[in-house]
Amino acid sequence: MEDRVISGETTVFDEGFEHSLRPQRLGQYIGQEKVKDSLSIFIEAAKGRSESLDHVLLYGPPGLGKTTLASVIANEMDVNVRMTSGPAIERPGDLAAVVSSLEPGDVLFIDEIHRLNRAIEEVLYPAMEDFCLDIVVGKGPSARSIRLDLPPFTLVGATTRAGSLSAPLRDRFGVPLRLEYYEEEPLTEIVIRSARVFDVSIDSAAATEIAKRSRGTPRIANRLLRRVRDYAQVRGDGMISLRAAQEALEMLQVDSFGLDHIDHKLITGMIEQFRGGPVGLDTIAASIGEESVTIEDVYEPFLLQIGFIQRTPRGRVVTHAAYAHFGYPVPDSDK
Ligand SMILES: Nc1ncnc2c1ncn2[C@@H]1O[C@H](COP(=O)(O)OP(=O)(O)O)[C@@H](O)[C@H]1O
Ligand SMILES: [Mg+2]
Repeated sequence: MEDRVISGETTVFDEGFEHSLRPQRLGQYIGQEKVKDSLSIFIEAAKGRSESLDHVLLYGPPGLGKTTLASVIANEMDVNVRMTSGPAIERPGDLAAVVSSLEPGDVLFIDEIHRLNRAIEEVLYPAMEDFCLDIVVGKGPSARSIRLDLPPFTLVGATTRAGSLSAPLRDRFGVPLRLEYYEEEPLTEIVIRSARVFDVSIDSAAATEIAKRSRGTPRIANRLLRRVRDYAQVRGDGMISLRAAQEALEMLQVDSFGLDHIDHKLITGMIEQFRGGPVGLDTIAASIGEESVTIEDVYEPFLLQIGFIQRTPRGRVVTHAAYAHFGYPVPDSDK
């Protein structure tokens, strides 16, 4: 079964390697055991009743496998998936065009669903609840509303920030699932699987080394694997040994926690310019020249997870662990 791709208002599906890197079935989807357990029950139940799967909300930091999982769900349900994103749906007509082309049971994937505008959300509610669309056609006195019946479908929404979703929208997802950062073991497995897709041989110690430095994130693991492969090809014999992996990661300036130069800038900036905080997110962002949303969605969640920063009502604070990791003397205040 093929993923159908529609261009224009929808995101074109990744091609080539990126496509084969993505697991196709639940059984190939590594880690996230709780999520897979729940999903497999709901999928089996829906299939047993010959119904469409209830709407699914996937949330969690970028690169953890939300888009991948949306396709996996469609594959397991034996239906097609249509992919679009919140910002791509500008007018109710855009949404109508996508949903009216769905076949019964299809998966409609809306990435960055927190970025849907309110007008579209209003149209989406009856679509999700009663599988119908109320569309206003025409303008002024001749405007009228027409009701369009839709086939039953499954909306799979993905977001990095569930908190930004309006409550009425969030409540209409029967299956909310939170993706977690990956532990070292499943991430190692992902690196080994990807190396097989790339047709490059890798020591298991090297795979673990890459996994350790990937911030619990498959997308980062795959990216580092690509760079390590380049290094091993040019500087070595093409095989990824532990030594080649370590040297390459050193060169890429990825430290033992997987932190990169932006994490460094962020933490050292907070320590040097703001005495470790508390400091507001916007202030940090401005001082290092990054966007607040990028810091909040991409960098901060992992730094919180490993306990390098904390959120307080007065702003972000650098912890002692981070002082130590970055080689600063730990301040004697009671942070
Ligand atoms: N559970 C998994 N097992 C194997 N590979 C994964 C898994 N989750 C994600 N990946 C890989 O990580 C990359 C990023 O996944 P993606 O679904 O695009 O993340 P998101 O949509 O959450 O940002 C993809 O290349 C995918 O192949
Ligand atoms: Mg995605």
